[in-house]
Amino acid sequence: MNKEKDIDILAIESSCDETAAAVVRNGRRVLSNVISSQIDLHKLYGGVVPEIASRKHIEKINQVIEEALETAGKSLDDLDAIGVTYGPGLVGALLVGVAEAKAISYAKKIPLVGVHHIEGHISANYIENPDLEPPFICLVVSGGHTHLVVVRDYGKYEIIGRTRDDAAGEAFDKVARAIGLGYPGGPKIDRLSKEGNGDAIHFPRAKIEDAPYDFSFSGVKSAVLNFLNGCQMKGEAVNRADVAASFQKAVCDVLVDHAMEALGDYKMDKFAIAGGVASNTALRAAFERACEKNGVRFYHPSPVLCTDNAAMIGAAAYYEYMAGVRHGLTLNAVPNLKLGER
Ligand code: KG4
Ligand code: ZN
Repeated sequence: MNKEKDIDILAIESSCDETAAAVVRNGRRVLSNVISSQIDLHKLYGGVVPEIASRKHIEKINQVIEEALETAGKSLDDLDAIGVTYGPGLVGALLVGVAEAKAISYAKKIPLVGVHHIEGHISANYIENPDLEPPFICLVVSGGHTHLVVVRDYGKYEIIGRTRDDAAGEAFDKVARAIGLGYPGGPKIDRLSKEGNGDAIHFPRAKIEDAPYDFSFSGVKSAVLNFLNGCQMKGEAVNRADVAASFQKAVCDVLVDHAMEALGDYKMDKFAIAGGVASNTALRAAFERACEKNGVRFYHPSPVLCTDNAAMIGAAAYYEYMAGVRHGLTLNAVPNLKLGER
């Protein structure tokens, strides 16, 4: 790869409820990473309200980009490319980032590179791990996705497992709501679980017979809801910390089991996690142990690079850019974009 000239990319991410911009050099060095979260706004409704998300992105996007450029000590004239998430995600939210990126690309005659959001999450691992190169297996666990992916090369992905129903993060959010923790539930369950016993209640670990790497989280979610209803009907007090810890353990067990099975079957010795749920402390510890036991190198981004951010989009955009990918001004938001499509 030609490393003579530094490639500085301005990246934009607006697929859900974070308005984010970053400047990333050569795909791995973050010069700035600005995230404006809308969580406090959506909290009032118990989840992301798409229309509110789009409006807030419009209000924030210029400010976030200006701050990212200023922190990086760059102007729009210093950039080699603009990277932007164009799917999957909420269409109205995606459109704000895509329109902004196209406008800058047109005004400044800078190449435009559209990025798949999941490719972004996976690429977050490149930022703090200079030695990580494909091939490896990556588990992407976020609010919208649960994918087990073989990363064959930069930009070359094979999805070998996916959820049949809820995403892992969705299950965390729903269980958190049921035990009265509020939105977003993942970090709250993570925190409360530290005070509970993960073996207190046995919740089911789903295994799908003909698809060993696929996941299903609706069963464990329903089991938690049934348990809570049962307690209420019997007038028994609920130990919320035990429920949180036992649910979290059931989810972590399944994620670790499936990933370890895939690593063995595909004879891979490098494993990475990505997405919001990848910041879960129990999950990270469980993978730390399992990878050490199986002689696998374990990679994970810092928590701020696990949840939605634009630095990860800048990392992914760099490898797409180096592979010659250029999107014209006809680039559109694709809410159900498939991984590996260009
Ligand atoms: O990657 P992300 O920011 O957005 C999507 O692309 O979906 O992931 C958000 C999800 C939410 O469901 C949130 O509850 C979950 O990640 N999450 C966590 C933790 N931090 C965020 N889940 C479990 N433990 C955490 N510490
Ligand atoms: Zn995400």
